[in-house]
Amino acid sequence: MTRPLGYDVDDNAIRFSNYVHVLREIAHFTSGWMPVEPSWERKYALGDHVHDDARALTKFKRRLYELRHPAEYPGAPSPELERLLDRMTSAASAGEYMTVVYTEAKPALIRAMRIHLDNLDPVSDEPSLRLLTQVLERQERHVRELGDAATSFDSDIGTFPVRLRTEPRELRILAPLDEPLRDDFVEVTETGDPYLSRELYVNGAENHVPVEREEQQHFFHGLMDAELSAAELMARNSHEHPEMPWDFHVDMARQNWDEVRHARLHDLLMKDELGCRWGDFPVGFSYFKSIYAYDLLGRLCLFNGTSEQRAMWRHSHRRKTLMELGQERVAMVFDYLLADEVPHVHNGVRWGSYLLGGSESAYREKVRELRAALDETGAPA
Ligand SMILES: [Fe+2]
Ligand SMILES: [Fe+2]
Repeated sequence: MTRPLGYDVDDNAIRFSNYVHVLREIAHFTSGWMPVEPSWERKYALGDHVHDDARALTKFKRRLYELRHPAEYPGAPSPELERLLDRMTSAASAGEYMTVVYTEAKPALIRAMRIHLDNLDPVSDEPSLRLLTQVLERQERHVRELGDAATSFDSDIGTFPVRLRTEPRELRILAPLDEPLRDDFVEVTETGDPYLSRELYVNGAENHVPVEREEQQHFFHGLMDAELSAAELMARNSHEHPEMPWDFHVDMARQNWDEVRHARLHDLLMKDELGCRWGDFPVGFSYFKSIYAYDLLGRLCLFNGTSEQRAMWRHSHRRKTLMELGQERVAMVFDYLLADEVPHVHNGVRWGSYLLGGSESAYREKVRELRAALDETGAPA
């Protein structure tokens, strides 16, 4: 079999430019809608997918740079592609948005990447071959998980022209969040689960590690909800700030995925070890709302720089106590929570400093100032 002739460099770059346009808007809007998707399974999938999409976009930008094309914003999409992007933009609910993404936008990407793979020269363009193989596999999985595998998109979006030297397409920002949504079988109350006492959330000698079955049921249920809230906060940080550098969105997408993975860990622990399930106890959003009310800098200082930073001590304390009691399965959960918390705290330092003109000391000062308004559990006093 003879090798395909392949694409010339410019046509190849145009294909990647079109993929970048689609993924850029998917990453933006998935982050915006994810908190108001009530289903836990679908919310998890959105957190997972948005991280894949952000990484894929980073790699496509890199490939554009290698092909000597604008990587930051590769020209404006054609009117034909804009019609698809506009359908995502104008969605009025999470469900409507997901229908457009999983039955039109991602299938369009998949179709174009398959055509791309079939026609590229696997030797001269091996970097594209490897990259597309990897991204295609993940995108196909996304559609299997949340879409309808039978759907396909008629046109090859890879061939759509791009108009260079134009202003970036504006990314619509959804209305501010009132509160995140949960499955309808989960009761949401003002104060959350009354079983959860302050001793569970303070640092130092007063801290209480839940060791009995009943208190662990409540504790991990509350922790699962806290992980979801953390994911949702990162998602909205990304969505509400399209002006931030691209790496910020990659960091937020990564943390979003980490937090929904943590929620999944607690979900499984409850089912497999603790004899309870998601929805067994009420949840509340007062802490989420208190953080969400701040601007981006405030959220980074108080959530990443304070809440997550202080949680590190408690996770390590919990792990040690539970190990000593021989509760290895439960103790091990905290090992990875603790490990993942390190980059999450760093996200606060990295982007908080960025917002303060690159000054890490200004960030630390701001964290100190905002912490003064908190009680010993980290909640607003
Ligand atoms: Fe977490
Ligand atoms: Fe975290």
